[in-house]
Amino acid sequence: MKPITCYSLAALLALAPAAWAAGPAPDAAASAPLYNQKCAVCHGADGAGHTILGRRYHADLLAKKVQKKSNAELARIIAKGKPPHMAAFGDQLSKEQIEGLVAYIRHLAKK
Ligand code: HEC
Repeated sequence: MKPITCYSLAALLALAPAAWAAGPAPDAAASAPLYNQKCAVCHGADGAGHTILGRRYHADLLAKKVQKKSNAELARIIAKGKPPHMAAFGDQLSKEQIEGLVAYIRHLAKK
C-alpha cells in the first residue's frame, strides 16, 4: 500500500467513528436528493411545510410534536402513511432509504 493511500484511509477512519459506532448509520446528507424529489413538494425543502399543501394540512416536520416522536415512529409513518394526506411510501422505498429520510428530517430540525 502506498503511503498516500494509508494516509487517506486513516483520515476517513478518523472522521467516521461516530457513524460507525452505531452500525451503518443512515446518512442524512445522502438522503437530501430523495427528500427533495419525494417529500419537498408538501413538506418544503426546509421541512417546515411552507407549501400550498403543507400549509393546508400542517405538514411541518420541524414541529416539536413531530420531532419528539421516535425514529421508529417516524419511519413507520413514512412507510405506512398518515391518512388522509400523507401517502405511504413503504412500497417504493427501502428500509434504508426510509431510515435515511428520518435522519434527514432530524438534520433539518437542527438547522
Ligand atoms: C402529498 C403531500 C405529501 C408528500 C409528498 C409527503 N408528505 Fe409527509 N405528510 C403530509 C401531510 C399533509 C402530513 C400531516 C399529516 C397529518 O398530520 O395528518 C404529513 C406527515 C408526515 C410525517 C408525520 C408528521 C406528523 O405530524 O406526525 C412524516 C414523518 C412525514 N410526513 C414524512 C414524509 C416524507 C419523508 C416524505 C417523502 C418520502 C413525505 N412525508 C411526503 C404530506 C405529504
